[in-house]
Amino acid sequence: MISVRNAFVDGGDLALDDARYPALWLRDNCPCPACALPGSGQKLFGVTDLPDPTRLRIAELEHGEEELTVRFAPDGHLSRFAVSWLAAHRLGADRPADERTEDAKTCWTAADFASPAAVPRAAWPEFAHDDGVRLRCLDALLTHGFFLLHDVPVHERAVLEVAGAFGYVRETNYGSLFDVRVEQNPANLAFSSLPITPHTDNPYRDPVPTIQLLHCLTNAAEGGDSGLVDGFGAAAALRAQDPKAFALLADTPVTFRYADAQAELSATNPMIGLDPLGRIKEIRFNNRSMRPVTALAAARIPVFYAAYRAFAALLYRPEARLDFRLEPGDCAVFDNTRILHARTGFTAAGSRRLQGCYADLDSAASARDVLRRAAAPTRRNPR
Ligand code: FE2
Repeated sequence: MISVRNAFVDGGDLALDDARYPALWLRDNCPCPACALPGSGQKLFGVTDLPDPTRLRIAELEHGEEELTVRFAPDGHLSRFAVSWLAAHRLGADRPADERTEDAKTCWTAADFASPAAVPRAAWPEFAHDDGVRLRCLDALLTHGFFLLHDVPVHERAVLEVAGAFGYVRETNYGSLFDVRVEQNPANLAFSSLPITPHTDNPYRDPVPTIQLLHCLTNAAEGGDSGLVDGFGAAAALRAQDPKAFALLADTPVTFRYADAQAELSATNPMIGLDPLGRIKEIRFNNRSMRPVTALAAARIPVFYAAYRAFAALLYRPEARLDFRLEPGDCAVFDNTRILHARTGFTAAGSRRLQGCYADLDSAASARDVLRRAAAPTRRNPR
């Protein structure tokens, strides 16, 4: 239990031991049913509806000092805040939590999975029916960037069922799913038997698909193994090794494009996307769909290519890459804003067929949080 010794009004704001909470901020976050919908917490007013100026008149600790009652001026509105809520929302945190950034991730290289037991994996029936298993896998997706499933039924469209177990399929111009198999005269390298170096998918979309699933239906080919690389880990390594190269890739807008008879897609973003605090948040890396870089003067182009190649070299290090073979019934689920995927070449004689689809990270995080909530119910605090 969190307790405070002092709660008093100071200059119209709330002072709580060594923390301060401005009156207007408190009023905007009042949890009473007139201000916020019980359950969802959605606010029932707009910011201009708040009195200006808003000040605090009274602050009193109650209920064994677990709760604080405040009264505002000029309108006398009464609010009650849980002391634990105030403690969790201290102002001035220099690195506010953002689960999509490197702060919330565990970066890895292949050596971290030297023991096969370290690879986050589960059997599909358990994943589908056991909340604890699903929670563990979704946690791995959000911290390590991937998990693997086995025993997914080997039939068409089963990958859609997997995506539906934790979120929603992101439909694109490829349809709700796509086939990865050998084709004569392929328009896309994915449909050939050539090796494919580590890349993220579809950087030409905005928003980019944030989760990718790949489900193996057949793999009788020699070769055709899969690989995953932690793009955040490689970007962090580039930052340590050559901060200027890292900054250039984070600052330079690059256009990615895809076009066929029915589609004309393009999006412009840096290869290394940062949040406003400079934390790594998104990787886009796909030489196939990258268009000419025009945002830099000619004199800067050699420096850009040096940085691009240094990043590629880190991504292509064999030790960075977790190699595995997808057998029929296996399904890889990974964060396409962070994890690059690759495959070795294979003999076109043996057949290899995967079905893939895209889904959304926010839904996966939501599913994980709802499972967590159910696993550890907590008393809903008033704010
Ligand atoms: Fe791909």
